[in-house]
Amino acid sequence: MKAIVVYESLWGNTAAIARAIAEGIGAEASALSTSQASVEALAGADLIVAGAPLLGFRLPTESMRNSIGRDPKHAQRPADLSQPSLRSWLAALPKGSGRSAAFETRFKWSPGSATGAIGKSLMRAGYQPIAKDERFLVKGTYGPLADAEVERAKAWGAELARLWKAE
Ligand SMILES: Cc1cc2nc3c(=O)[nH]c(=O)nc-3n(C[C@H](O)[C@H](O)[C@H](O)COP(=O)(O)O)c2cc1C
Repeated sequence: MKAIVVYESLWGNTAAIARAIAEGIGAEASALSTSQASVEALAGADLIVAGAPLLGFRLPTESMRNSIGRDPKHAQRPADLSQPSLRSWLAALPKGSGRSAAFETRFKWSPGSATGAIGKSLMRAGYQPIAKDERFLVKGTYGPLADAEVERAKAWGAELARLWKAE
């Protein structure tokens, strides 16, 4: 059994959640950025967990990422735009079969979601959801994560592993 937790993260919050989820799943799981999660790295994975920040009420688009890179407003907190977007990673995901789960990092009271688009793409590629989408909360525009969200992510990972292994 092999699980991949793939993430997009501009300021590190989603990456921290992804690492905690992988830790919760156990030794079969690795947390990988979109560039690390190559076709070779994915080979044999029967669980894909994918997550991204909610930006502008949706799964980040290329135009949103470009405008964040250009906007002097974000210069104090430069975004890591060196990795491909999860949106483009999902578009290139080869057909496979297995299970999936989707998560996002975000504010508590925001409209929109990233997980809807993530889940749909995973399903289209042949990975059926194993659990309900999950959201992990930040306290401010660039983070940090809200209290105890890392622990909650670890527990969610353990729950995913339980469901996955029970099949
Ligand atoms: C330009 C920008 C737009 C954002 N838009 C939203 C939003 O629409 N809804 C929301 O809940 N959070 C929004 N946030 C907060 C991010 O979702 C949050 O900081 C996220 O955890 C960042 O994840 P990362 O550190 O992995 O990149 C936004 C943050 C920035 C900087």
